[in-house]
Amino acid sequence: MASRQEEQQDTKFYLTGNFAPVPDELGAIDLPVEGALPPELCGRYLRNGPNPAPGREPSHWFVGDGMLHGVRIEDGRAEWYRSRWVCTKALETGEDFVKEDGSVDRTVGVANTHVVCHAGRILALVETSFPTEVTPDLDTVGPYDFDGRLTTAMTAHPKRCATTGELLFFGYSFAPPFLTYHRATAAGELVQSEDIDVRGPTMVHDFNVTAKHVVWMDLPIVFDLELATQGRFPYVWSDDYGARLGVMPRTGGSADVRWFDIEPCYVFHPANAHEDETGVISVDVARYPELWRGAPEGFDRTASLWRWTIDPAAGAVHEKQLDDQAAEFPRIDPRRVGLPHRYAWLAGSGLLGNGDGFGPSILKHDAARDRVEPYRLRASQSAGEPVFVPASSSSGEDEGWVLSYVYDSATDGSELLVLDAHDWGTAPVARVPLPRRVPFGFHGSWVDDDEL
Ligand SMILES: [Fe+2]
Repeated sequence: MASRQEEQQDTKFYLTGNFAPVPDELGAIDLPVEGALPPELCGRYLRNGPNPAPGREPSHWFVGDGMLHGVRIEDGRAEWYRSRWVCTKALETGEDFVKEDGSVDRTVGVANTHVVCHAGRILALVETSFPTEVTPDLDTVGPYDFDGRLTTAMTAHPKRCATTGELLFFGYSFAPPFLTYHRATAAGELVQSEDIDVRGPTMVHDFNVTAKHVVWMDLPIVFDLELATQGRFPYVWSDDYGARLGVMPRTGGSADVRWFDIEPCYVFHPANAHEDETGVISVDVARYPELWRGAPEGFDRTASLWRWTIDPAAGAVHEKQLDDQAAEFPRIDPRRVGLPHRYAWLAGSGLLGNGDGFGPSILKHDAARDRVEPYRLRASQSAGEPVFVPASSSSGEDEGWVLSYVYDSATDGSELLVLDAHDWGTAPVARVPLPRRVPFGFHGSWVDDDEL
């Protein structure tokens, strides 16, 4: 009898249901709006995700060609919806970023994981490669390497400091240097790059920043050469690697990192980190107790919200589960990155690849009340990552809206859902039915017109 992972591998869940790609690009203007789009929203909601082009069946959900789905909003109107492939070399020529001789070309990548705006540039990101710049209309400009200063891959999860406006990020690789830290100014100038010593070729999907420090997650999903030679996604769980967090000053380097052992686990996505006046650091994360043992294709475990409290003076980390509901893709108010936050929003999740999509709920975590409140969708609906947009630069932490693409299996359609982030659980502020379903994807951003 086939194991569950083998069954998942056979079904290739990422090619079925609403994980399946759409066959082409699409555009529509003057979309219908149910309810009222807040007049304060003036910009674009953009979201990235894998959408393998016809004939390019990927070996894993994570490696399909990136497609952006955007909705332009102004003066209460949904001006347009567009889906556009990121026209990378990988898409256009079929190249892989790893060459036959094992060398890498960081100008090649599927650009499928996130889309962010920094210093006026919109960047589609995938962690194997350089960013790919796109225009506000979602046309592809090309690879962006910070004027030649970036020489490694760039994570899909850079952190823009809410205080300084700096963009802090990193790249990781299966070959040395395994991890490299980068710091760019608010104006987009890459001013620091530091190789960071880790134990081996760990998969570092995301990291954390506080007002003064970076917190690395050196976790036990590691590169596997045998899987790579089989053409499979080359990262699996390791019982030998160990797990630790590394605290480093934001302008420091590898020699400055203090490492703290933790229980083995995997984290794709933290919500946020911050430190108090005594130097104690709190890190809230969507934590998997284990993932990808033996094979990397299935998602047979779910994540839930945990908190690591790092006490550098005591040399210890306290680990605590904050909530036991399955949840992923935590997001916070972008004005609280690296600072104490009260609220986080997460997508309730099912067992991906086990016939489930994402779950029919969006969760709001209130750290002050130690409570998670679900916003319940219909059973046939699944929400993607919830993105918080403040009502104004001076509004309170949850005064604004949560935006997410919601898929409904009953209609095989999608909508942009706009929820009141403060009056949680009330009827949607607005819904924008889209002309076609938006496949389940990864991450996105609200790009306000002021940023462009
Ligand atoms: Fe991610």
